[in-house]
Amino acid sequence: MREYLKPIGIGVLIVIVFGGGFLGLQVRKANGLLNAPVTLDGPIATAPIPTDPESLARGEHLARVVGVCGECHGDDMGGKLDFDDLMMGRMAPPNLTRGGLGATLTDEDWFRAIRHGVTSQGRAILIMPSAAYNRAFTLEEVAAMVGWLKSLPPVERDLGEPTMRLGIIFSLIYLGGGLEKDVGFVNIDHSAAPPAAVEEGPTVAYGNKLAAPCRSCHGQDLAGLPPSGPPGTPPARNLTPHETGLKEWTRDEFAVALRESKGRDGRELNLFMPRAYKGLTDVEIDAMWAYLGTTTPTPWNNGE
Ligand code: HEC
Ligand code: HEC
Repeated sequence: MREYLKPIGIGVLIVIVFGGGFLGLQVRKANGLLNAPVTLDGPIATAPIPTDPESLARGEHLARVVGVCGECHGDDMGGKLDFDDLMMGRMAPPNLTRGGLGATLTDEDWFRAIRHGVTSQGRAILIMPSAAYNRAFTLEEVAAMVGWLKSLPPVERDLGEPTMRLGIIFSLIYLGGGLEKDVGFVNIDHSAAPPAAVEEGPTVAYGNKLAAPCRSCHGQDLAGLPPSGPPGTPPARNLTPHETGLKEWTRDEFAVALRESKGRDGRELNLFMPRAYKGLTDVEIDAMWAYLGTTTPTPWNNGE
C-alpha cells in the first residue's frame, strides 16, 4: 500500500469496525424491544366459533377480501416467507392452518392476535393491521373468520423461526419511531367495547366500517401516506374528495382500481395495494364510495 493511502485505509477500517459495532447494537436493541413481552389487562372478549356453512362463507369473505389475511399469510393461509436478509430482516407470517400454528391456538389466542395485536407468546405483532380489525370487526365476525380458518385443510409448510426479525434498515426505522403506526397493540384502545354490528348495505356507515383496513396504508384521515415499504414503494394515494385525491373519479373508476388494481390512467398499481380486493362485492364498493365522498377533502400526504 502506498504510504499516503495508509491513514485512509486505517480510517476506513475504524469506520467499519465501529460503525458495524454501532449498527449491531442498534439491531440488538430494536429486536429486544420487538420481542419484549406486553401486558393486556382484563379478560379477552371472545364469541363462540361457528361451524355452520353460512357463517364459514361469511368468515371466508371477511378474512380473504375485507381483512386481506392472505396478502401476508398466503392464499392458502399456510404462511409465507416475505423476506429474509441482513438489511430488512425476516418476515414470515405464520401458517394459520391446522398444519401449522393454527393447530395450537386456543380461541382466546385467535381473538388476542386479531383484535389486540398480541401473539400467543405475548409479543406485540408488527405489521399485521390488528388496530384496523379491532375497529372494523364485531366479535361474531372475528369468530366467523376463525371458524373458516379452522375449517381449512391443513397446509404442511414450515417456514422456520423467527416469524419476525428486524434487519439493519428496519431496526433503525423502528428505533426512530417510524414503525409505531404498524404496531397494532399500541394503537388499540384495549378497554373499548367491541364495535356494534352495522347493517350490510350501500350506506355511508357500512362504507366507514369497510374502510377501516384502508387506513393502515392510506392514513387515518385517508389522505395518503409517504412510502413505508422497501425502496421503490410509491406513496399510498389520497382517497379523500380533494383535487389530489378522488375528486374527479367516478364510482366505476374506483371499482376498477380496487378489483383490477388499475389506476385511472390505466397503469397497474403497485403490489402494495392488496390484490385480494378483486373479491369486493358491488354493495361493498358502493358503500366505500359513498363513505369516501363524505370525508374531508384533504391535500395528499405523500411526504413531498
Ligand atoms: C400485513 C400483513 C398481515 C396481514 C394482512 C395479516 N397478518 Fe396475521 N400476522 C402477520 C405477521 C407478520 C405475524 C407474525 C407476527 C410475529 O410473530 O411477530 C402474524 C401473526 C398472526 C397470528 C399468530 C399470532 C401468534 O399467536 O403467534 C394470527 C392468529 C394471525 N396473524 C391472524 C391473522 C388474520 C386472521 C388475518 C386477517 C384477518 C391476518 N392475520 C392478517 C401479518 C399479517
Ligand atoms: C397494504 C397497503 C394498502 C392497503 C391496505 C390499501 N391500499 Fe390502496 N393503495 C396502496 C398504495 C401503496 C397505492 C399506490 C399504488 C400506486 O401508486 O401504484 C394505493 C392505491 C390505491 C388507489 C388508486 C388511487 C390512484 O390515485 O391511482 C385506490 C383507489 C385505493 N388505493 C383504494 C384503497 C381502498 C379503498 C382500500 C381499502 C379497502 C385500500 N386502498 C387499501 C396501499 C394500500
